[in-house]
Amino acid sequence: MNLQELVQTRKLLVCVGSGGVGKTTTAASLALAGALAGRRTLVLTIDPARRLANSLGLQEFGNTEVRIELGPEVKGELWAMMLDAPSTLRDVIRKVAKDDAQRDAVYNNRIFKAISGSFSGSQEYMATERLYDVHISGRYDLIVLDTPPVKNALDFLESPGRLVKFLDRQIMKWFLTPLEEDRVFGKRLWLGTAAVVYRLLGHIFGKEFLGELSVFFTLFRDFYEGFRERHEAVGKIFTSDATRFLVVAAPTDPSVEVARFFLQELAQRSCPTAGVIMNQVHRCSNNPPDVEALLGSSARALDPVQAPSVLARVGAAHRRLRELANLDQQRVEELRRAAGSRLWMKVIPRISGEVHDLAGLRGLHHYLIEDSVHSV
Ligand SMILES: Nc1ncnc2c1ncn2[C@@H]1O[C@H](COP(=O)(O)OP(=O)(O)O)[C@@H](O)[C@H]1O
Ligand SMILES: [Mg+2]
Repeated sequence: MNLQELVQTRKLLVCVGSGGVGKTTTAASLALAGALAGRRTLVLTIDPARRLANSLGLQEFGNTEVRIELGPEVKGELWAMMLDAPSTLRDVIRKVAKDDAQRDAVYNNRIFKAISGSFSGSQEYMATERLYDVHISGRYDLIVLDTPPVKNALDFLESPGRLVKFLDRQIMKWFLTPLEEDRVFGKRLWLGTAAVVYRLLGHIFGKEFLGELSVFFTLFRDFYEGFRERHEAVGKIFTSDATRFLVVAAPTDPSVEVARFFLQELAQRSCPTAGVIMNQVHRCSNNPPDVEALLGSSARALDPVQAPSVLARVGAAHRRLRELANLDQQRVEELRRAAGSRLWMKVIPRISGEVHDLAGLRGLHHYLIEDSVHSV
């Protein structure tokens, strides 16, 4: 199934890969393709380059969905949302809290305030939380999920499980023990490792902090089921037939390595993978450079004294580009072998300049969808 068919028929496309390869721009471009194909499409993005965010009207934080105008001739809709991890966590708390009092208790808890900004893996976790919300809302025919640059492929795929693990009953029990035993048995049982750590923390941060820590874990224990259910639902979405993963790579050794790793991980986790997008590939013809064509009319106006050195430099630049293109080609072949015959690979050239606005996305869209010459 090629990219055009994917944007027309799937409900969720997930772009994965290492940082800087073009996940965000590819995700936005695929969402544009979805809208052009007549679907209500949302791109859920995480770290768009500032210029791209600005030109799409995404400068605001706070998980608001922004509609990007494409003109009256386009039947579908293009929406974009930039994730803001701390406010997502607040939204989740609001949803799983039993009542306003419980919600406020968490909001005002100092531990919560501290972790909501820095909870490790919060970006990945929040991406899946948001995904869950927009997926079940039914507002979109197609969601394209951009993912954060990850050092380790597992970070993203396991992110929903991470908070559940963080809230693991064992850990909570460990933290809660001193408080509960203190309540039941009095000070006598302030013994054992947990108690020692607790006393130490108490010395460092004060008794008040300790109280808040216990309140935090007590409250989160109540939320545990809610988190677990959402985690399972996201796991189901990720392995559903309506979903396809796209591995995005650039022709560099580290990026190809990460892409190979993703291919393995996705297969192991039964996540349906459609193909590989090899982005930012240098292209160069093997023919000697046509200086007249390169320099245009200025070629004829060259000073006869300087002409040989200008031509030599053009020739050298062309050779360097050809070497670069050949190296890129080797990496393309390597990744193609890793992807195997089951998956397609799409090679996208490096476009001059950056892709930072709708026109740039349309340019990339051309290569992704229309330019079948480069698909394999
Ligand atoms: N095919 C391409 N040609 C030229 N520049 C590109 C291409 N794809 C992406 N870029 C540029 O590369 C940079 C990184 O892209 P981005 O989508 O933010 O990567 P990621 O999300 O994987 O970190 C951006 O400046 C973007 O404009
Ligand atoms: Mg990105």
